[in-house]
Amino acid sequence: MKKIIIAIDGHSSCGKSTLAKALAKTLHYAYLDSGAMYRAVTLYFLNTGADYHDGAQVEEALRHISIHFERVDGHNHTFLNDVDVERDIREMRVSEHVSPVAAISAVRRAMVKQQQAMGKRRGIVADGRDIGTVVFPDAELKIFLTADSDVRASRRHLELAAKGIDASWDDILRNLEERDHIDSTREDSPLKKADDAVVIDNTLLSEEEQHARALGLARGRIAEINEA
Ligand code: DC
Repeated sequence: MKKIIIAIDGHSSCGKSTLAKALAKTLHYAYLDSGAMYRAVTLYFLNTGADYHDGAQVEEALRHISIHFERVDGHNHTFLNDVDVERDIREMRVSEHVSPVAAISAVRRAMVKQQQAMGKRRGIVADGRDIGTVVFPDAELKIFLTADSDVRASRRHLELAAKGIDASWDDILRNLEERDHIDSTREDSPLKKADDAVVIDNTLLSEEEQHARALGLARGRIAEINEA
């Protein structure tokens, strides 16, 4: 049975990772959280005090950054230089800086290279901003996910609260609108819908409805690829 690549792109906090994880679990595919990689790079800058506006410091930092994923208690965790940073990378201080860091071409080049290596054998669900346009332009299924920003802020608020991370709803809304703006207008690999992506607006969809719709699309593509 041939496996496919599923690329899920879209705005901040619209449930890309929830959908990607659910699809990966159902299909027994690997899950690649590309945003976690940009968050880990950002955390490195914040923790070391290196200045990400300085090209030489960025190059130097990238030489000292190694990111990998591991399963911890059944969940996908991000490791930065062998330290589990899964919790730290979700904090607001990282969210405040991640979009400018992700706009740096040298950072993108390094991350995209690693992401493409992870997709070599296919059988992967990846979520991010440039997965269907730059990382895997030949992905067999591309989904572009979106939702109203108020609904996204409320969902993020609940998600952070569940993790014990305190952040105000207003700050969350401001941050996600700001990130959407930077991510969509940057020069290198801006967030945009790939021409061949299917749009899912999940403002009024439950997780189950969204999962069922995406799974239907995935199974259809897998069948087509295997019949060809
Ligand atoms: O998906 P996320 O919110 O964890 O992503 C964090 C930031 O990383 C997001 O604001 C933009 C950036 N990002 C990116 O530029 N390209 C990706 N493929 C994934 C994330």
